[in-house]
Amino acid sequence: MEFSIKNGSPEKQRNDCVIVGIFETRKLSAAAAAIDRASVGYISNILRRGDMEGKLGSSLLLHNVPGTLCDRVLLVGLGKEKDFREREYRKAALAAVKALDGHGANDAASFIAELPVKKRDISWKIEQMVEVTMDAIYRFAHPRCKKEEERRGVYKLVINVPQRNDLKKGDMALKKGLAIAAGVRLAKNLGNLPGNICTPSYLAEQAQELAQSYGLQIEVLEREDMQKLGMGSLLGVARGSRQPPKFIVLQYRKGKAGKKPVALVGKGITFDAGGISLKPSAEMDEMKYDMCGAASVLGTLKAVAEMDLPLNIVVIIPTCENLPDGDATKPGDIVTSMSGQTIEVLNTDAEGRLILCDALTYVERFEPESVVDIATLTGACVIALGQHASGLFGNSDSLVKELANAGDEAFDRAWPMPLWDDYQEQLKSNFADMANIGGRPAGSITAACFLSRFAKKFDWAHLDIAGTAWKSGKDKGATGRPVALLTHFLMGRCD
Ligand code: BES
Ligand code: MN
Ligand code: ZN
Repeated sequence: MEFSIKNGSPEKQRNDCVIVGIFETRKLSAAAAAIDRASVGYISNILRRGDMEGKLGSSLLLHNVPGTLCDRVLLVGLGKEKDFREREYRKAALAAVKALDGHGANDAASFIAELPVKKRDISWKIEQMVEVTMDAIYRFAHPRCKKEEERRGVYKLVINVPQRNDLKKGDMALKKGLAIAAGVRLAKNLGNLPGNICTPSYLAEQAQELAQSYGLQIEVLEREDMQKLGMGSLLGVARGSRQPPKFIVLQYRKGKAGKKPVALVGKGITFDAGGISLKPSAEMDEMKYDMCGAASVLGTLKAVAEMDLPLNIVVIIPTCENLPDGDATKPGDIVTSMSGQTIEVLNTDAEGRLILCDALTYVERFEPESVVDIATLTGACVIALGQHASGLFGNSDSLVKELANAGDEAFDRAWPMPLWDDYQEQLKSNFADMANIGGRPAGSITAACFLSRFAKKFDWAHLDIAGTAWKSGKDKGATGRPVALLTHFLMGRCD
């Protein structure tokens, strides 16, 4: 997809299609009104006949509209004008791409970004339009099926801005949107790969490639290295698998020398069968997505590198499979983490925290300014927040606020959850320093409590993306979340 930013009048565009909005009920947006004037009432006439009400997400494609220079005009429903906010703007932008999917129009000019959205400027609207559009046209290409379906539909989109002096801002927002979209795409591709391809070794190779492309430092620790470091908790999870575990450490150093880095830690379970505490078989295939935290930190690093942000960033990915085996860790086994704290593994399916805790201890050596871990950690988080918000936890109120705001800005939202000491009691073990599960109540909180015990030496936050990283059902697929949130967070960290 090619995007460009322009300023002009809708009736004078020579594109295959011009996209304008219609509010409910049958109220013309400014661009639609301009076309209506040029066509001497052609649009209002059609609306009057009842062919379109302006319902949010609806659309109507018109051909040969008099007084215009384009082949087609696409009317996109915007819903009620007084309710037109971020979500509605995104839905309208999405409806436009979808409506043109499979049609002959390849080159379109959209006037949707001209619509006012409360509290949002032109930069926000352009960035969002790029992200929504790229999201909508994404198709997963299986690496071993060469045949990629040809896509018919728009491949050139001109985004029109209301004023000439918006052009420069527009171009900058376009660059941001494209960088984030590229990161999201990487995260989706990795997430969607099946577990037999996307193994820990595959993730390590992909990280190597990313490092090559953008000149990053990379180190991949092997099982023996992890043994030397005493990562008994992570290695306890990897025991049941024939795939060797990997511990990936990437460094992006484009900030001031000596400035402390921000660290991102991504859960990289490339398949989670639950281990000896085997999961039920229904929908178990979706546990290939249990490495979406890892995918999102790689995607974020790509977005950051595309924008060349002046920051120091460390990315850590502990990665392995969680499978049952004769040699696998059993319920009741006790492991010793790199921190020295011992853990009674009461449920081998609570493995995410077991690999993350060693990564959190390892990251101490970088003396990070802040640490954010991203993990498809608990089914309980899906019950609490559904698929709209990621769960947000942390030991620093300001870091939590910063992330919540970044999510708001990016429309990739996270919602703060409590992390009070009261919940810590649920992790008590009679045989080790702690148990790895805290029972059914507040499952996503006790998981975060577990992690907090390994994050005492720095400002830390945790994003539980179990509900947001992928979609189930007929739209099954990775979402690329929370790449946009994390990238906005990091953009905010630039001086
Ligand atoms: N990867 C899962 C969490 C998960 C489950 C994400 C379903 C999305 C959908 C994690 O490793 C897990 O199995 N968690 C357990 C923890 C429990 C045993 C305390 C869970 O949530 O059931
Ligand atoms: Mn699990
Ligand atoms: Zn898991």
